[in-house]
Amino acid sequence: MRRSTKRLMDEHELILQTIDSMGTMADSASARGEVDEPFWRDAIDFIRNFADGLHHQKEEGQLFEMYSRRGLSREYGPVAVMLNEHVMGRDCVSRMEAAVANQSPDQLARAARDYCELLTQHIAKENQILFPLGETVLSDSDEIELNIRFDEAELELGGTSNTLRYRELAASLAEHAAFVARGDPKQVNT
Ligand SMILES: [Fe+2]
Ligand SMILES: [Fe+2]
Repeated sequence: MRRSTKRLMDEHELILQTIDSMGTMADSASARGEVDEPFWRDAIDFIRNFADGLHHQKEEGQLFEMYSRRGLSREYGPVAVMLNEHVMGRDCVSRMEAAVANQSPDQLARAARDYCELLTQHIAKENQILFPLGETVLSDSDEIELNIRFDEAELELGGTSNTLRYRELAASLAEHAAFVARGDPKQVNT
């Protein structure tokens, strides 16, 4: 596996960790009829600024751009499907944000589950189909250029400290969800 692919797949792992936490908290929102506002504000921050703001921007601005130079069009086929799913994900996040503002646990659980299902399948398609296909069309010099462009994009979007912040946020969301899953959410805030 190429380094550029590994970098994106490592980010997928972090996104999947947060999706797992969100699934637990969506179940809790439905079961308890409550919106855990601090959790969801942090989860939306993670999705907006890491999953979408950093990861999807690297895919759209760097990877898919490089693919299109090598014949994998953005207008149709797998890349077009991925771009459309990024848009659908943004819609789910807007619905989640509205549900938090309205304190509506059922609406929140529905939007969060839609996001989790969409992104889980999206990531599987990228990992198993699109990225392996992409590795067959990019040259060795494309790979070098892509990693430089990823470095530049990461730097522009906050650098290592930003990535570290979201890694820590994902860990704390997972920890919170694990407490809630054990049935004692009040312990988390003490
Ligand atoms: Fe994607
Ligand atoms: Fe991705």
